[in-house]
Amino acid sequence: MSISPAHDSAFLRACRREPVPHTPVWFMRQAGRALPEYRALREGVAMLDSCMRPDLVTEITLQPVRRLGVDVAIFFSDIVVPLKAVGVDLDIVPGIGPVVGQPFRTAADLPRALSPGDVPYITAAVGQLVSELGATPLIGFAGAPFTLASYLVEGGPSKNHARTKALMYGDPALWSQLLDRLADITLAFLRVQIDAGASAVQLFDSWVGALPAADYRTFVQPHSARVLAGVADVPRIHFGVGTGELLHAMGEAGADVVGVDWRLPLDEAVRRIGPGRAVQGNLDPTLVFAPAAVVRDKVRDVLEAGKAAEGHVFNLGHGVLPETDPDMLKLIVETVHEGL
Ligand code: CP3
Repeated sequence: MSISPAHDSAFLRACRREPVPHTPVWFMRQAGRALPEYRALREGVAMLDSCMRPDLVTEITLQPVRRLGVDVAIFFSDIVVPLKAVGVDLDIVPGIGPVVGQPFRTAADLPRALSPGDVPYITAAVGQLVSELGATPLIGFAGAPFTLASYLVEGGPSKNHARTKALMYGDPALWSQLLDRLADITLAFLRVQIDAGASAVQLFDSWVGALPAADYRTFVQPHSARVLAGVADVPRIHFGVGTGELLHAMGEAGADVVGVDWRLPLDEAVRRIGPGRAVQGNLDPTLVFAPAAVVRDKVRDVLEAGKAAEGHVFNLGHGVLPETDPDMLKLIVETVHEGL
């Protein structure tokens, strides 16, 4: 196996907890509606259609790298793309998110497994991107089994995940079958991206913060752990929102880097996660609406707290909000790169 030109990038070094020339920075949802050039490209193209066009995926993924000077590209796709690829009837509705035609109720609704042949456009787009990116690493990603299950069971975005939890607590056998199948799909989707040249992966368990730690360990962790074990040949980032009480368990699931939202200072997150892992985060995504001087101070606070970690990848505590001024993101990148 040849060594990738991105191997010695600050990002991959931080993930491996090696010394870095500067703290690496990227933003969840950096490719998207905060950029006018993204909105222009997406004009008249449905979200899921855009994910199936390697030319568009390549251009949208590169846009924030060019404009913002971030250290990493994140593959432009969506967590529901692999579900669509195995035939689940769903769409991404603008302003709402993923909506599923027939929510999951019984074993007859189990999605089928995913094979690489189902997503040739992913292999093509990653290959094209990796050759254009050179020494800039590409992060592949997927949704974790719990978060995907929430969309399938609720039929769309949900505040309290009530039906999802009702299935989990009420029919543990069916729940386990569902999460097991979703783990297969997620793992296959990540493998496609790694095998085409992605140099790290992020497993998004965005909504798992809805669970107490004990239930996370029983009903979710084994499935996420199986996914993460299957991609141990690259650095693995594991992220969720509102996961202050789950950080240790999410690390245990097999993350090299644990993503932290904005609610907990990074030094406290590091204490909870324990040794042997790097952290990613965690500027509040709404801070971009504050004056520049405040933003710079808060970025430095995050860098200071991040010193407690064996490796720190700077990010927001969740995705870029659509109303964000790209110049503010650029200021954040510059401030991170200046260092303390
Ligand atoms: O980070 C990136 O820049 C890469 C692209 C990316 C998208 N979705 C593109 C997208 C990534 C990593 C995702 C992951 C994703 N999708 C997650 C996990 C991350 C998180 O936010 O916690 C989740 C939960 C989803 C499901 C989803 N897809 C939601 C909630 C939405 C927003 C709905 C809306 O319109 O407000 C989407 C749609 C989506 N995914 C958009 C983009 C750029 C917006 C679509 C558009 O431009 O019309």
